[in-house]
Amino acid sequence: MTSPAHINIPSSIFIGAGAIDQVGPEVKRFGVNRLLIVSDPFMAKTEHLEHILQALQAGGIESITYGDVTPDPTDGNVLEGLALLKEHRCDGVLAFGGGSSIDAGKGIAVMATNSGHLSDYMGYNLIPKKGIPLFAIPTTAGTGSEMTRVTVITDTSRHVKMMILDPHLVPAAAFVDYTLTFTMPKPLTAHVGVDTLTHGLEAFVSRKANAMTDVFAISCIHQVGQHLQRAWHHPDDAVAREGMMLAASHGGMAFANSSVCLVHGMSRPLGAMFHLPHGLSNAILLPAVTRYSVSSAQERYSTVAKTLGWAEVTETEQMACDKLISGLEALNASVEIPRLRDCDISEGNFMSALDKMAEDALASGSPQNNPRVPTLGDIKKLYLEAY
Ligand SMILES: NC(=O)c1ccc[n+]([C@@H]2O[C@H](COP(=O)([O-])OP(=O)(O)OC[C@H]3O[C@@H](n4cnc5c(N)ncnc54)[C@H](O)[C@@H]3O)[C@@H](O)[C@H]2O)c1
Ligand SMILES: [Fe+2]
Repeated sequence: MTSPAHINIPSSIFIGAGAIDQVGPEVKRFGVNRLLIVSDPFMAKTEHLEHILQALQAGGIESITYGDVTPDPTDGNVLEGLALLKEHRCDGVLAFGGGSSIDAGKGIAVMATNSGHLSDYMGYNLIPKKGIPLFAIPTTAGTGSEMTRVTVITDTSRHVKMMILDPHLVPAAAFVDYTLTFTMPKPLTAHVGVDTLTHGLEAFVSRKANAMTDVFAISCIHQVGQHLQRAWHHPDDAVAREGMMLAASHGGMAFANSSVCLVHGMSRPLGAMFHLPHGLSNAILLPAVTRYSVSSAQERYSTVAKTLGWAEVTETEQMACDKLISGLEALNASVEIPRLRDCDISEGNFMSALDKMAEDALASGSPQNNPRVPTLGDIKKLYLEAY
């Protein structure tokens, strides 16, 4: 007998080329008249957003744009967006961009109806009231945030990346249109692509994995195996971009309803301390953490290797796990993921941050979902191995 799982995904999902054309009708269906658009300085100026805004206007929906979301968004972003939302009496939020814009949009949408500070709700299922409707359009493939009940916002006073998980954070509708991702540069494609793989892999090996999430996790892993390197080498390849967008959404559906594990637990403090992009810090940690973890869930990890196409179905679990570890190292090298020491982080600064990073990683709760649950000492050793 397995324990019951609780699954949350958006009630409306539009997916495929042209999915963004459905934004106007769907916003109307929710009875929203005035939208706060939440985006970052680059994406806020794209033709795609211009096209969406024109369609909204033609449909009689007013909007005002908050376009200052920073990568790895902060509580300051949420407060600024919220102030604009209140000033213009918006009754819905449309997040357009990568995980940072969508996560900031989630924070704004729930703080429009809840009192206090976002940090009051750090943790699991603590948000009292549902927010105003949130519509999510991802432009990276990606974090899968458009599908999840999770937001990650940095508390700037404590230098902590807060993980907040609550069904009230699930977008009302997601518009998953891979044609928005052709402009992703190579490093972004690599970082978010390995992040996507990490979502599928961690959801599948997690102690909270369940029959519903396994399906999405395996699909995510399979799509990454087929499409990540092709998307990185050929940015205009529609089949590869579509495959990676699907992988990202399935990865989000998997991890948010299972969990992430040790890689994400260690990646958040690393990103908060040294301002590394979320996907990059995950990618750097993934091989070392997998090497540490495989012995506790050999069957699951060997299935991951076989699903990626890196091991034959006839190979033993041990052989497949060995191929998974060497394959993750080779994947990082092939899409030019650097080592930590090559990310402008001096050894002195790294060593001084080690204790806090390890303590924050353990306190986040994610390492406890890992097949092999680490001690504080294990986490420090893994950080050093990745450096
Ligand atoms: N809520 C969740 O479920 C969840 C899951 C994983 C990660 N995250 C969070 O997501 C954030 C990272 O998001 P991200 O990796 O998608 O990147 P991002 O949103 O931080 O964007 C990174 C950069 O990419 C640019 N960009 C975005 N789309 C582009 C496109 N199509 N073409 C060219 N440039 C583009 C942006 O302008 C920005 O400069 C982190 O804060 C992480 O913690 C959230
Ligand atoms: Fe992630």
